[in-house]
Amino acid sequence: MALLFSSRIHPADEWLAAIRRHLPDLEAAIWPEVPDPAAIDFALTWAPKRGELSRYPNLKGISSFGAGVEHILRDPDLPAGVPIVKIVDPKLTAGMVEYVLLHVLRQHRQLDRLQAQQREGRWQWLPPPDTGRTTVGILGLGQIGAAAGAALAALGFRVIGWSRSEKGHPGIEGLHGPGELERFLAQSQFLVCLLPLTPATTGLINRRNLALLPRGAYVINAGRGPQVVDEDLLQALDSGHVAGATLDVFHREPLDPAHPFWRHPKVTVTPHNASDATPERVAPQIAENIRRAREGRPLLNTIDRRLGY
Ligand code: GLV
Repeated sequence: MALLFSSRIHPADEWLAAIRRHLPDLEAAIWPEVPDPAAIDFALTWAPKRGELSRYPNLKGISSFGAGVEHILRDPDLPAGVPIVKIVDPKLTAGMVEYVLLHVLRQHRQLDRLQAQQREGRWQWLPPPDTGRTTVGILGLGQIGAAAGAALAALGFRVIGWSRSEKGHPGIEGLHGPGELERFLAQSQFLVCLLPLTPATTGLINRRNLALLPRGAYVINAGRGPQVVDEDLLQALDSGHVAGATLDVFHREPLDPAHPFWRHPKVTVTPHNASDATPERVAPQIAENIRRAREGRPLLNTIDRRLGY
């Protein structure tokens, strides 16, 4: 049996070498060179082509390269009944937390203003703001959202979170469901999106919801690009209702060189590098899932296809 390695962005040599350190005899086919589709029993994939995964009659498991799985689930011809797994990695989570802290603190501590003062050689004391008077709203309270919330709460921020279903995390005031979104947004001086991309979260950061934020709110999107309606965010920035935005994810990546986000003075663009899952770190869980699939045991970190995460 063999692993299907299918990604246009992950280097096959590096990933296969890391997985083979845990499964030395692993056979692999690197898409699109798959001479024997019947030999494929496990797929490691990122954004597979539509219908690709239905070509393998003996597939027993599908793994994403990262935390997100929407790039797999968007295929309407996905083979039914084959478990899909995501990567859960403490370091990946830690990277996301770091990213959120960096961009919340940069805005909270007025770093851009201080740097502008420095460029002008101007000594102007700005009082360090009180974290306790600032509310950070986190959209999505999965592993990553909960960890980011805990880190912000540890710094004294008031942290509220919004999720599809009710969640209880110490230090985070949880709101949930469509009925509580408005109350959540109305309090969020920072809006941090860490949601998975599903039909329900697509376009969530739109004109109506942006208008519900307090004036001067700051938006951070490290979830997925299609959660933001770009034109609506640009309009909210231009009107001054939203003070600024840091965006790591976009509708199309790489971000189009002509996209207005690149040059907008209130937008920070980062190239989907908030965090990553390196081959060395995540090879053990991929190898373990290949083993489990072959032995007919339940896989680790399976996602719920109906929920989309
Ligand atoms: C990155 O975007 C991931 O899904 O891990």
